[in-house]
Amino acid sequence: MTKNRKFTLVSRPDGEPKPSDFALVEEDLPELSDGAFLVRNHYISLDPAQRGWMSDAESYMPPIPIGAAVRASAVGRVHSSKNPDFPEGQWVVGLAAMEEFSVVEAGGFTSPVDASLVPSPTNFLSVLGAVGMTAYFGMIDDGQPKEGETLLVTGAAGAVGSLVGQIGKIKGCRVVGIAGGADKCARLTDEYGFDAAIDYRGKSQADLEKEIAAAAPDGVDIIWENVGGEILDAGITAINEHGRVVLCGLISEYNSPEPVGIRNLWYLISRQATIKGFLVRDYPPRFPEGIAQMGQWLAEGKIKHDEDIEKGIENSYDAFMKLFSGGNQGKMILDVSPES
Ligand SMILES: NC(=O)c1ccc[n+]([C@@H]2O[C@H](COP(=O)([O-])OP(=O)(O)OC[C@H]3O[C@@H](n4cnc5c(N)ncnc54)[C@H](OP(=O)(O)O)[C@@H]3O)[C@@H](O)[C@H]2O)c1
Repeated sequence: MTKNRKFTLVSRPDGEPKPSDFALVEEDLPELSDGAFLVRNHYISLDPAQRGWMSDAESYMPPIPIGAAVRASAVGRVHSSKNPDFPEGQWVVGLAAMEEFSVVEAGGFTSPVDASLVPSPTNFLSVLGAVGMTAYFGMIDDGQPKEGETLLVTGAAGAVGSLVGQIGKIKGCRVVGIAGGADKCARLTDEYGFDAAIDYRGKSQADLEKEIAAAAPDGVDIIWENVGGEILDAGITAINEHGRVVLCGLISEYNSPEPVGIRNLWYLISRQATIKGFLVRDYPPRFPEGIAQMGQWLAEGKIKHDEDIEKGIENSYDAFMKLFSGGNQGKMILDVSPES
């Protein structure tokens, strides 16, 4: 009989997650209630946000219960169904968990998708998924890029950051990216078309401030912030009058016991700049608009994107931790498909 394998949370990580915080559990497939269906997950999205969901600190989503599979977005096919709207074989994408099979109860957050329209169903987790929608709506609604402005992107070589920078180029901005290591910086300029790249590794905040000033001689109009800490403090010193900081993520703080905070807030006052938190979960009703635009830019060759795909539910921990070591080259995805 087929079993489900799940990557479950055993204890809430204290600082950096350890292998002992998780367990791989095997169990029987459940019976379906009326209106429910069972999805055979093929690809699971690995996201920095999952680290926050593992903690019990106050957040925009409840903590993952101890003993449950780690919450994750996933794309897969309906395996068996008691819901006529989701027949067997239908591709679906939604909020599920790091497991091979997920039950979706009636009314669960899962949408049907047409896998024949994309080169790979993984695209529903990357450029046409939450990551692409974050970059698109965060830039259009909050970044509000204008021709001739300068955009500074932190975490620039990652899934969100690389798309944000390319949208900035489409909108006519000078785009400067900050990333870890020479290879990632080369990808920023050579593959994604950024105007300049800064390697933050081994640099002090003062070094970063100098390098940002050199790469953005007219100052910075938009900061897309994925990282926080000293990198955000350094960027803020370059903000122009009426600049915008789009606060998308703070990955440098996700494993730290205490929040770091911003020490350079005064620059926002003196330059009459704004800082605004962005959450993609406000946007699902507008996803069709974002998918249409990102899809068009992809088809026109104006946007490139990379996916870093690891295989097998048993490799969940190592694949997830690449997000924090910087080992990922593009959108981090776990392939748990039956063929993997
Ligand atoms: N607000 C929203 O709705 C929303 C939605 C999606 C994602 N996000 C946020 O967007 C950010 C990027 O997410 P993503 O999915 O695109 O991941 P990603 O950028 O593809 O991967 C994470 C990257 O973060 C960098 N990083 C890790 N630890 C770091 C540290 N201590 N200091 C500096 N850089 C560090 C690494 O790149 P380097 O090798 O360059 O260090 C790593 O490759 C995250 O902060 C995430 O929480 C927010």
